[in-house]
Amino acid sequence: MNNIISWTAEDEAIIATNTDATECKRCAVELGYWKDEYISYFVKHVDRKAPEINRGYYARVKAMEMFIHQFLERCGTQCQIINLGCGFDTLYWRLKDTTQAVSNFIELDFPSVTSKKCHIIKRNKQLLEKICKEDGEVIIRSGDLHSDGYHLLGCDLRCLKEVRRKLEAGGATGDAPTLLLAECVLVYLRPDAALALLQHLASSFPRCVLLVYEQCNLGDKFGEVMVRNLSARGCALAGERHCREPAAQVERLRGLGFDEARSWDMETVWRSFPEEDRVRVESLEMLDERELLQQLNTHYALTVATRGDLFADLDLNS
Ligand SMILES: C[S@@+](CC[C@H](N)C(=O)[O-])C[C@H]1O[C@@H](n2cnc3c(N)ncnc32)[C@H](O)[C@@H]1O
Repeated sequence: MNNIISWTAEDEAIIATNTDATECKRCAVELGYWKDEYISYFVKHVDRKAPEINRGYYARVKAMEMFIHQFLERCGTQCQIINLGCGFDTLYWRLKDTTQAVSNFIELDFPSVTSKKCHIIKRNKQLLEKICKEDGEVIIRSGDLHSDGYHLLGCDLRCLKEVRRKLEAGGATGDAPTLLLAECVLVYLRPDAALALLQHLASSFPRCVLLVYEQCNLGDKFGEVMVRNLSARGCALAGERHCREPAAQVERLRGLGFDEARSWDMETVWRSFPEEDRVRVESLEMLDERELLQQLNTHYALTVATRGDLFADLDLNS
């Protein structure tokens, strides 16, 4: 029997943030900021975004990639990646095209997002063939997709019982080195739900890296305007009070069971990129509002929390 779940208008607005993110990523890819052969399957048409938005997305994607590669360098491909609030992220397919495809890749999002993603995968051979090993089986049932090494699972991250059940169904194991991705998702969870989720993840995976990309410094004037604008679109940031200065994120994650944590605002991350990358990206589009980009950059942060000695030295540009 199908469970009939009704989402609130607020949940719908949160779900719609995936469309925004996918459109912004596709726009930046089309303009040459980075390469992604798969993003166009997930969103058909996009209007051009402002240069500061494109540059912000470049920094976000590159920063996540920088740490994903550091994780893989340390543990090789016998590991698992768990993508929380995955939306239409294409990382699984991008890794498949390199030598870095991992043993198990699990993606979690609301069922309405995962069932759409399942549908798009099923309709596009280029996506489907990458999740299907020779003689392998792909099972699509109730908005979930299971294959050998890739699991796309619908669940509400606010419900720990469901998260546990889905991770088990996806074959997650505490024995493997684990990369946990939370790109613009924890901020949408109530603080108690985020806390329970993070504590559970830290205790379940003794060798892990958690990458969190989300807003920071929301307590200042510019931050307040960001929160107000989102809330006017029906999208409340339930976890807003944890999006303070990066040092507060570090404290919070250490307190939740991670051994080490570091956090940088995106202006610091941007300055850590190799000069040739920054020069190339800066030449793609004229930017009139450098100050606005700087303000945006200082209101987003990348936080890296780790458990286990193997990952203790993860750092910007190491
Ligand atoms: C801004 S999008 C980011 C998508 C993707 N991580 C990326 O960066 O491209 C936020 C995603 O988190 C998901 N999300 C937010 N709250 C969630 C919850 N309680 N349970 C499951 N997914 C959630 C949304 O559905 C959406 O796909």
